[in-house]
Amino acid sequence: MAFDEMKFQEVISEFSATTEMLRETAKNFQKDLQIGLKDPKSSSMRMLKSYVGLPTGNEKGEFLALDFGGTNVRVIRYSLEGEGHSKIIRHVAEPLIVAGKYDYVGKGSTAEQMFDFLAKLIDDVIEGDHETKFYLGHTFSFPSEQDDLNNAKLIIWTKEFATAGVEGKVVNDLLLEALKRRGIENVVPVAVINDTVAVLLSAAYKHSDVYTGSIYATGHNTCYIEESIHDPKGVGKGGMILNLECGNFMNLNPNRFDMAFDRKSEKPGEQRFEKMVSGRYMCELFGMALAELFEEENKHYDDLTAVDMSMIISDVSEDLRKVAEIVKNKIGQTAELEDLKKIQELAAAIVIRSARLVTASYVGIIWQRANGGEIQPQHVAVDGSVYEKMPLVQENIKKALEELLGKDAEKVDTILDNGGSGLGAAIAAAMAV
Ligand code: BGC
Repeated sequence: MAFDEMKFQEVISEFSATTEMLRETAKNFQKDLQIGLKDPKSSSMRMLKSYVGLPTGNEKGEFLALDFGGTNVRVIRYSLEGEGHSKIIRHVAEPLIVAGKYDYVGKGSTAEQMFDFLAKLIDDVIEGDHETKFYLGHTFSFPSEQDDLNNAKLIIWTKEFATAGVEGKVVNDLLLEALKRRGIENVVPVAVINDTVAVLLSAAYKHSDVYTGSIYATGHNTCYIEESIHDPKGVGKGGMILNLECGNFMNLNPNRFDMAFDRKSEKPGEQRFEKMVSGRYMCELFGMALAELFEEENKHYDDLTAVDMSMIISDVSEDLRKVAEIVKNKIGQTAELEDLKKIQELAAAIVIRSARLVTASYVGIIWQRANGGEIQPQHVAVDGSVYEKMPLVQENIKKALEELLGKDAEKVDTILDNGGSGLGAAIAAAMAV
């Protein structure tokens, strides 16, 4: 069966984002920022205060970092050496789900199981030393309300997490209880930050001219330093970092796949922007569009991942062997070369739309910071698998920056801050003590 050509063209055009649409999105994003600065409740973004500003780059000492927020948890023991340098002393990483063995994030999992697992990883990193005092920075990558740097209450799970008993709770209280259950009283959590904040801290520790931090991975979100906010409970320089929680940005043009996926997601109506751009969701949209092309509308291709999309896009073989293999193994279909090409084009269209929309949100922040004046030279620090590894993403960010900023695009680039969500937690701990 060959795909219906008209249907295919219609699907592709639904995933396109023109320069005009991007400009509109960037403007709306900036508008929502301005509304949120006056009253966060009136903005679709949560604009959460982090109680931390920028580091000096000279923070020093040994700190633990707990990086929790995606499919893997990491605990790292860092030595911060100042002048932007740091060393990893010890490091453990474990997935939160191992099929057939355990699942700490699905329905039916509990806070106690999840935090006991985290305490065990911390114990591994301190090698069972229950005497030496360790200060711990915690990167907790979900929307959390804070009234100082160390207390963060989870507002709502995102990224399809569903563990019972964590929403509405202060996460470091849950962590402390778990540490206690394990007999660890010498690890002292002193800071909780979002992963975007961690990326900004980590990049600003090493470079000047960084004001924005972003995660472009399983989930998506961005933070920036807002110079007008100073709080006596905050630490660091230059104002306060605001975690926008822009995954929840709403003023967009969702297509029918975006809308249909949202309806059947864990949290309908929430995280509409994230559901259009991040790795956790791009493969869902891809699967839904493919099901339509294969005329299997009600089928859900559970096994399809963003990694498959990346392999599909990268296949340069003449017969698109890899694409054929994925289509066979993950969705149980065989397709002719013409259709394999279309499948590759569809994956690319979804990724390109994502990169372009994410860029529009960065431009909204850049405009806001410039406040009608000249755009400062700056790097937007980004971490995450989609940014780092998905083909087409970085070049399309660059292209969209040029479309939206014109000549000023020369002053702006995105830089990869690999591992920033771990290092940032250690820096936050150093800033807190
Ligand atoms: C969360 C953010 C987080 C982002 C990237 C989103 O789902 O709401 O807090 O920064 O994912 O991990």
